[in-house]
Amino acid sequence: MSIFAIADLHLGLSVDKPMDVFGPAWIDHVERLEKNWREKVTSADTVLIPGDISWGISMEETLADLQFIDDLPGTKILSKGNHDYWWGTTKKVEDFLVDHDLTTIKILKNKGFVVENTLIAGTRGWILPENPESKKEDEKIYLREVGRLERSLVDSIRAFEEGQAEDKNTDGKALSGDEPEQLQHPEQLQHPEQLKHPEQLKHPEQLKHPEQLKHPDINSVRKIAMLHYPPVYETGCENGFTKTLEKYGFDLCLYGHLHGRAHQNAFNGEKNGVEYRLIAADYLKFDPVKV
Ligand SMILES: [Fe+2]
Ligand SMILES: [Fe+2]
Repeated sequence: MSIFAIADLHLGLSVDKPMDVFGPAWIDHVERLEKNWREKVTSADTVLIPGDISWGISMEETLADLQFIDDLPGTKILSKGNHDYWWGTTKKVEDFLVDHDLTTIKILKNKGFVVENTLIAGTRGWILPENPESKKEDEKIYLREVGRLERSLVDSIRAFEEGQAEDKNTDGKALSGDEPEQLQHPEQLQHPEQLKHPEQLKHPEQLKHPEQLKHPDINSVRKIAMLHYPPVYETGCENGFTKTLEKYGFDLCLYGHLHGRAHQNAFNGEKNGVEYRLIAADYLKFDPVKV
């Protein structure tokens, strides 16, 4: 049972959006993706897909793309990219998945999962403050996304700890993504600064000393984050995303969004104990990578 990843599928099976206009790298990209996927991924595996999934602008326009993904082997965990205009509220997307019997797709937003013995968390991300194109209004979105990342990381830890507790009495659960109580009121947590006031949270002790989390095994379990936007640029400057990943001891951060020539500006490597990897589909030649 392995974990694979590939971002930026940019599917458009029911809309007129030929991808080869973005260069020869995208010719027949759906067929190549499917062939590579079926050659290596089994139904027992999990595939992380952080954003830019479908060109559809409504759930209905995205149905064929989601059915294509659902039909591929494995459990898929999807998070949102900047081109996923079809993605409304989490409830709307999850209801749509149920209504159309898309049983192998999970949605990651403001929560985390435990897959086998690995924590999975993440958010969309945004333009970093060091980007010359970042404007004042971008900073607000950036801060909100840093807060969402922290909530997701905390929830994946909570899911792990609950699973460990359940394992003592029951079979436990391999995949958990229920909204914790404190996340039912996300308006209380719009700004990451609020996380400095952990008394608002259900398990405040988790946030006071994240390096000494409640369950001793948490420090040895593998932790993977998935973002759509790059959480770090080639300069390697620290920011809210990198600091949050470091704070909770995440080992690996996967991201997409960069295409074509932008690949050469990607940061692929280790920084303060966190490994960063670009997994945009064209960068991977449409071949899901084992992580
Ligand atoms: Fe993309
Ligand atoms: Fe993107």
